[in-house]
Amino acid sequence: MITRNFPKTRARRLRKNSVIRDLISETSLNQKKLIQPLFVSDTVKGVEEISSMPNQFRFDQNSVLKEIEELKGLGINTIALFPHLKSIKKDNEGSEALNPENFLCDTLKKIKQNFPDLVVIVDVALDPYTTSGHDGILKDGKVDNDLTLNALSKMSITLTHSGADILAPSDMMDGRIGYIRDELEKNDFKDTVILSYAVKYASSYYGPFRDAVGSKQKEGISKKTYQMDFRNSKEARKEVELDIQEGADILMVKPALPNLDVIKVVSEEYDLPVFAYQVSGEYSMLMNGIDKNLFDSNVIPETLVSIFRAGSSSVLTYFAKWIAENNG
Ligand code: PBG
Repeated sequence: MITRNFPKTRARRLRKNSVIRDLISETSLNQKKLIQPLFVSDTVKGVEEISSMPNQFRFDQNSVLKEIEELKGLGINTIALFPHLKSIKKDNEGSEALNPENFLCDTLKKIKQNFPDLVVIVDVALDPYTTSGHDGILKDGKVDNDLTLNALSKMSITLTHSGADILAPSDMMDGRIGYIRDELEKNDFKDTVILSYAVKYASSYYGPFRDAVGSKQKEGISKKTYQMDFRNSKEARKEVELDIQEGADILMVKPALPNLDVIKVVSEEYDLPVFAYQVSGEYSMLMNGIDKNLFDSNVIPETLVSIFRAGSSSVLTYFAKWIAENNG
């Protein structure tokens, strides 16, 4: 044990000025480690601000290409793409998700034609395509696990065909990673990365996202019947172990800030990289506080650094562009 005593040790010596503080800092933000989520819409012309997410937008296909160009210029090379679709495209089964010519597949192809080096992450879940807003297919008053698996594995193939680099199953159906991995192998997609939303809590923080993609639930069934209970952390190990066995390459924990303890456990106990998702509600909460002058915009790097400090290897955050513009 090191014994430290005053005045030999004065912790304040190393806090004297910003140059010294920078020299001894353990964690810094780097845009190469940030992933910008983007919403593409088949109803919007140009861009439309998302009312519950200040300064975040729904883009049409042309404007998303412009946005990506800007992001690339700022050094951001990875995006996560989410569709916002006309309600006539939605049904109980989310069947439009399986259409290889659907809006998202078409957008993906255009993005990859223009930016072949950009890494594109795509969610694998049915919520943008189901009338219920659920991530799976409803049957007998439940979100049916095994029926949904089949749809997710087919959807994974059409997305990979269209150019997705990383598939991110976010649905929390049991067995989905294995199903998707098998289907990828069968189709000779040996190098498609699976970023599993392994530890996804049922969270109120997803509210603004559901606004953004138009997936607010209308039925009485709760997403708590498939997403994790936020009172549990042992369960995180169970989910992670299943996903590793089934063939995941990267694990994700979300939301981020309420679950720093879980990020730490997963990153220390398993050898796969761990990502965290600073979700829509975390974003809107901070933006609203900044807009009301309750605190300044330094809360943005403060929260992100804490997520990296907990052990996250990269972070999906709506602040990615802001950091690249303001943090150098
Ligand atoms: C859909 C999905 C959700 C998020 C990512 N993928 C919402 C949900 O599960 O209802 C949330 C992201 C955010 O809040 O920013 N499966």
